[in-house]
Amino acid sequence: MTYENLLLEIKDRVLWITINRESKLNALNKATLAELHFALSDAFQNPEVGGIIITGAGSKAFVAGADISEFAGLSLDEGRVFAQEGHHKVMDIIHNSEKPIIAAINGFALGGGLELAMACHIRIAADNAKLGLPEVTLGLIPGYGGTQRLAQLVGRGRALELILTADMIAAEQALQIGLVNQVVSQDDLMATAAEKMQKILSRAPVALAAAIQAVNASLVDGVNGFEVEIDQFGRCFDTEDFKEGVAAFLEKRKANFTGK
Ligand code: COA
Repeated sequence: MTYENLLLEIKDRVLWITINRESKLNALNKATLAELHFALSDAFQNPEVGGIIITGAGSKAFVAGADISEFAGLSLDEGRVFAQEGHHKVMDIIHNSEKPIIAAINGFALGGGLELAMACHIRIAADNAKLGLPEVTLGLIPGYGGTQRLAQLVGRGRALELILTADMIAAEQALQIGLVNQVVSQDDLMATAAEKMQKILSRAPVALAAAIQAVNASLVDGVNGFEVEIDQFGRCFDTEDFKEGVAAFLEKRKANFTGK
């Protein structure tokens, strides 16, 4: 696939995905979503990729939302498909990825942009970032998982306040309410994201995948997350990473994990 809306680079086992529509504040049009789906699916299969960092081109925006010009004339059914595709092809595969995914939020993260960041496992924001779900100003509601993931991250009361007022909040306030994990200066954003990812990638890959699955299970209706944890915990014992981790500890050396 040729990528026209994304920049992709693999560095130190990390796939950096930069959404590259700076003149439109990196708004997610259909083509960008399709490219994201392809790049992510490819990365999940690629043994050279241990983790993924998603960011936006330029210093103004991470992603300023779904591309408003593309959904202006949609019918009821088309609107439903529009949301479904965003959920299933991009947001859900990020949320459920067995490889860790960090959002490096370098400016506006609005609407679909904040939904993209919330689907990631960890969010690090630059101090100039502004976050919000302004869909009600357009006569819409968040449609890429925002009503659910925002409530899960910050609680129902704060989620409703943000969604109903359509307010944008600054990075520091997002940190206070648990919407982002960390706030750093603009200059330090990429290095901080890279460093966090390298720390994660030094841990056992099979355990990372198991941990993501178990934590995600806490959010799935009708699934007993405690049972998923027990199951995943048990499975870890049958891996080379577990044997290597314990051996390295006992031998007082650094573990050399293979992800098997
Ligand atoms: N969809 C499509 N285009 C978008 C966009 C979006 N979500 N967000 C920004 N753009 C485009 C603008 O139309 C403009 O394009 P143009 O230069 O061809 O006119 C360009 O990006 C720059 O945006 P602009 O509005 O001029 O920048 P600003 O600094 O004045 O304002 C924002 C920045 C983020 C406050 C403003 O762009 C905005 O409100 N965007 C929409 C946010 C939104 O509602 N997102 C949720 C969508 S569901």
